[in-house]
Amino acid sequence: MLIRAALSHRATSLSLRPLHAEHDLPAAQALLASALPLDAAAPAVEEKLFAGNGVRPGQAIGAFSNGDLVGLVAQAGRFIKILTVHPRWRRQGIGTTLLQAARTFLARHSAGPQENTKLRYGDHPGNYLSPGLDEREQAGAAFLQAQGFVEVGRNLNLRAPVTDNPSLRPEHIAQKQAAVAALGYVVRRATAADVPALLAMVTSAFHRVWAYEVARALGSPLGGEAALHTATLPEGPTVHIALSTAGDVVAFAAHDGNNRGMGWFGPTGALPEHRGKGLGEVLLLHCLRDVADAYAVQPSCRPDAGVIAWVGPVEYYARACGAAPDRRFVVYEEAA
Ligand SMILES: CC(C)(COP(=O)(O)OP(=O)(O)OC[C@H]1O[C@@H](n2cnc3c(N)ncnc32)[C@H](O)[C@@H]1OP(=O)(O)O)[C@@H](O)C(=O)NCCC(=O)NCCS
Repeated sequence: MLIRAALSHRATSLSLRPLHAEHDLPAAQALLASALPLDAAAPAVEEKLFAGNGVRPGQAIGAFSNGDLVGLVAQAGRFIKILTVHPRWRRQGIGTTLLQAARTFLARHSAGPQENTKLRYGDHPGNYLSPGLDEREQAGAAFLQAQGFVEVGRNLNLRAPVTDNPSLRPEHIAQKQAAVAALGYVVRRATAADVPALLAMVTSAFHRVWAYEVARALGSPLGGEAALHTATLPEGPTVHIALSTAGDVVAFAAHDGNNRGMGWFGPTGALPEHRGKGLGEVLLLHCLRDVADAYAVQPSCRPDAGVIAWVGPVEYYARACGAAPDRRFVVYEEAA
């Protein structure tokens, strides 16, 4: 696809074409570093642009001017995962042109009149850069409102520091683990042998989207298609599980299953009959310990905090691991 679009404010032309993992990644990383500094998304750009989106068809389209990448849109179905324009190229209609490309894609791939075709920004289940628009992105908010989007929700990310965090001391984690071991549970990192039962449990007891994120957190080669185009992390599978005395997987927690390489925690879950026994906390601490260990080895390219995204129980995470409110996001959707 090559679209030439006349820009509204300047006598120049713009070409749009799909981005390719083989040759457009460095330019896309440079663009996002300039255009979305709050996200520090470098490790996950390939995942956002080229990895799968579960059940939804997706595309990543770049806007080029004289061969330079000046803006891009990445979408999965009606969800816009990223839409951004280089700061030097704003207010020239490029964002509008990219949004139009997203609308065209959605219309082409619509499953029929029963499908919700209202575009939405952020919070794409299974592959999202952020669960909405950071509330500090004033240009983004003005742009979306000008395009007929309205606020439909708010999401909060917590931040759990991984340096000098008493909850992540090995002896604290060992104590928590001993308490669940006394109840008969084994907690450990997932291995290849666990994968079928783990993914089946997550799918049937929770959600297939969570299973998709867990598969990605299993990494290559355990994660299959979901783990394509995602960073390979030295710790291997970033999934911890709890097994009952019968050897069944009864609880799990993953990190780096979305935005792999950026220290994002989740998803996590325990089967109803195994809740309230401390499994969720031990699994959480093991995940954050992984993030802490990775930071200790490579402080220049791994995060210094675990990100607990899109949270509900703020108090629980504050108590369990010292996490505190961090970024706040607004979810926008096209008005009816
Ligand atoms: C949001 C963003 C993609 C807009 O790209 P853009 O190419 O500058 O957008 P357009 O030129 O097509 O703007 C269309 C309209 O949106 C509104 N708008 C865009 N930026 C605005 C701003 N900073 N302040 C007020 N209104 C703004 C205006 O109504 C504008 O029309 P006008 O220039 O004729 O007044 C760009 O600012 C950006 O990359 N921001 C950071 C990333 C981000 O927030 N992305 C998420 C939201 S899509």
